[in-house]
Amino acid sequence: DSVSILPGTPSEVWRYRAELLKGPESTVSENPDSYLGPTIRLRRGQTVKIHIHNELPEDTTVHWHGLHVPSDVDGQPRLPIRPGEMMTVGFEVLDRAGLFWYHSHAHGEQGGRVGFQSYAGLAGLLIVEDDEELGLRLPAGSDELLLVLQDRTFEGANELVYLDGGMGAMMDRMRGFLGDRMLVNGTPPTTRNVATRPYRLRVLNGSNARIYKLAWSDERPITVIGADGGLLQQPENKPYVVLAPAQRLDLWVDLSDSRPGSTLELVSDSYEAGMMSGGMMGGMGMMGNATLPAGSRFTLMTLEVTDSTNTTEPLPAELARARKKIPVTDATPVRQFELSHAMMRGFAINGRRFAGTTVADSEKVRLGDTEIWEFRNNTPMPHPMHVHGLQFNVIGRETRGNGRGWSGLTQGLVDSGWHDTVLVMPGEAVQLAMTFERFDGLYIYHCHNMEHEDNGMMRYFQVQ
Ligand code: C2O
Ligand code: CU
Ligand code: CU
Repeated sequence: DSVSILPGTPSEVWRYRAELLKGPESTVSENPDSYLGPTIRLRRGQTVKIHIHNELPEDTTVHWHGLHVPSDVDGQPRLPIRPGEMMTVGFEVLDRAGLFWYHSHAHGEQGGRVGFQSYAGLAGLLIVEDDEELGLRLPAGSDELLLVLQDRTFEGANELVYLDGGMGAMMDRMRGFLGDRMLVNGTPPTTRNVATRPYRLRVLNGSNARIYKLAWSDERPITVIGADGGLLQQPENKPYVVLAPAQRLDLWVDLSDSRPGSTLELVSDSYEAGMMSGGMMGGMGMMGNATLPAGSRFTLMTLEVTDSTNTTEPLPAELARARKKIPVTDATPVRQFELSHAMMRGFAINGRRFAGTTVADSEKVRLGDTEIWEFRNNTPMPHPMHVHGLQFNVIGRETRGNGRGWSGLTQGLVDSGWHDTVLVMPGEAVQLAMTFERFDGLYIYHCHNMEHEDNGMMRYFQVQ
């Protein structure tokens, strides 16, 4: 199968375009009404070949976030596509079913361009399907709602504004960009007509830095069926769920008992964010972004029950059997990563900032090994830490104090299942179990707050 992705001509929006050359028509669906790239649907086990044309005035890359692919097609900063160039990448889809995404991973001489390029439109959804998941007969077609959450700031003739200089931009660089309005799939939040039956909501946080606290407006529990790396073993009910940048959640909601005419809103509920993170305490009226500080409450989508067609497919109690948790023993080696921020030096991991493909001895791992990676957050900001090329299990969290202001999120962290991005709260140490399977070579790990990533909170590691 072959899919072409072309970033659009430079304007206030940069777009991916895709052209299907071979394969089922359902592989690519364009998002014509938005700046988002096309949604790509793949089957586990298939091979995909993609031509990427760079029509931008600067280097770019395309990273397949969350997919287990060889280092050379991982879309890393070391493999830029120059302006006017075309790159062809091919890989076999090895991952189990799940919601993934793709986005720019460019890094120029002056620093990272991930924040800017993804903000300008270089991002889109990638769905992997497999037999195990299809066999569960979860809500599909129009009963499966895909939601990409992004905040943006507009100016004048609907131009996107990103870090436009001044004090506000300095703040944004430190805490991460926060837009002044919410977009869902590239458009303002809308009302969707639904029927009295179950729905599946697959949500990506495609924002540069904003953290969402997803909840239902009638305070019913939120049912989680999957995370970054696909379905959980069993569904879980939570009062609300936290979705950090780059993370995905698979949610299920049953509207069979809803009255026709009634509405239900998916909201991002309010929470207290720390001073340094543009929370209502620190951000409001101080520097920039007075209109939608971190931790504001807003509606993401309204479901209006307009139809009373029931289908009776119940949610299976057992969702996933195929992939068992990574076995960990007392002998499993632990590798520690200290996350730090110093005013003049910026963000660092174990005291080191992004330095191209330079890899420290402590960043070399053995192919086939299982390790525990522990991220220790010594900053007053949360960091969504992401590891390329694999899915991990979250096996522990310890709070070491210093997490002031963020306690309103702790009940909504989804730690079971498979993840490629984990939120590490201020003052917290989080342990992840991971296995470096199949592919050797260079990969990266970084904070997925895109401004942190672009400003040094990213490193290469080597599988050898
Ligand atoms: Cu979406 Cu390097 O990440
Ligand atoms: Cu990634
Ligand atoms: Cu960070």
